[in-house]
Amino acid sequence: MRKVLITGATSGFGKLLVDAFLANGDFVIATGRNLNSRKELFEIERVKYSRHFLEIDLDVTKPDEIQSAATLVLEKLGQLDIVINNAGFGLFGALEDIKEEEIRYQMEVNFFGTVAVTRAFLPMLRIAKGKIFNFSSVFGFMGFPLTSLYCASKFAVEGLTESLRGELAPHGVQVCLIEPGGYRTNFGKNLSWSLSDPSSIYALQMKNYQMVHEMFSKKKPQEPDEVSRGVLKLSKLKRLPMRKVFGQDGVLSYLMRTFIPSSLYFSILDFYYKKTFLRKI
Ligand SMILES: NC(=O)c1ccc[n+]([C@@H]2O[C@H](COP(=O)([O-])OP(=O)(O)OC[C@H]3O[C@@H](n4cnc5c(N)ncnc54)[C@H](OP(=O)(O)O)[C@@H]3O)[C@@H](O)[C@H]2O)c1
Repeated sequence: MRKVLITGATSGFGKLLVDAFLANGDFVIATGRNLNSRKELFEIERVKYSRHFLEIDLDVTKPDEIQSAATLVLEKLGQLDIVINNAGFGLFGALEDIKEEEIRYQMEVNFFGTVAVTRAFLPMLRIAKGKIFNFSSVFGFMGFPLTSLYCASKFAVEGLTESLRGELAPHGVQVCLIEPGGYRTNFGKNLSWSLSDPSSIYALQMKNYQMVHEMFSKKKPQEPDEVSRGVLKLSKLKRLPMRKVFGQDGVLSYLMRTFIPSSLYFSILDFYYKKTFLRKI
C-alpha cells in the first residue's frame, strides 16, 4: 500500500487529495495547522479509513513540526512513497505597499515550506524510489501585476522542482509541478490583500484588481476535484511529466506563454493591463 503525505490537507485541493488517495486504497498522512483544535475536519476519514489514515500537526513554516512529522512517519510507517507539497496561500498587493514581514511570510510558506518538507522526507522517498508533487500555479510561469510576491514564490517552486528533476532521478525519485489555473477552493477567501492606503499611487490599480477578482469569482467555477483526480492519476504513472497544467484558463495561459514570441506576448498583456488596471472607476 502506498504511503502518501499531503501538506495543507485542511482545505481546498489538499482536502480533496486526502479523499481521492484514500478512496484509491492508499495510506494517507494528512498534515495541517492546528489539527488538534480542528477535529471535525477529518471526522469521516478517521472512521471510514481508520487503518489507512494518520493526521499530523504540521505548519510548514515550523522546522520543529516538520522534523517531528518526519520522525513520526518513520517510526509508525517506516516508509513514504509520495509527498504532495500543496500548502500555500496568495499575497496580493503592490510591491511598494506590502510590508516586509508579509513578503517574508509569503516566501516562508510557499517556497521555504516546500523546501523544508521536501528535505525532511527525501531520505524516506529515496528508499521507496518515490514521487514528489509540488503545487505551483499558472503564476509559476507568468508574472502578473500586483501579484509579484505570489508569482515570485511559485516561480521559485518551479526552479526548485525543475532542478530537482535531474538531481533526484539517479536516486529513483521523480518530481512533478502541478500548475492549476483558477479554481474555487478557499484560496480566494484566504487571500492576503495587502491593501494600499487611499493615498497610495497604486490605489486605483488595487481597486480594479479586486473588482476583476470579484468578477471572476462570480463566473462558473472550474471544479477543484479535477485537480485532485488529476494528481491521483499522475501518481500512478511510471514516469512523471515535468509539469501538469490544469484548467482551461491554465492551458490557455501556458500556450500563450510558451508559443507566442515574447515581444508579442507582452504587448498583448500590456494592452490588457492598461485596460483593466488603469480604468477610472
Ligand atoms: N485555488 C486556486 O485557484 C489555485 C491556483 C493555483 C495554485 N493554487 C495552489 O494550490 C495550493 C492549495 O491551495 P487551495 O487552492 O487549495 O487553497 P485553500 O483552500 O486556501 O487551501 C490552502 C491550504 O494551505 C494550508 N496552509 C497555508 N499556510 C500553511 C502553513 N503555514 N502550514 C501548513 N498549511 C498551510 C491551509 O491551511 P489552513 O486551513 O490552516 O489555512 C490550507 O489547508 C496552494 O499552494 C495554492 O497556491 C491554487
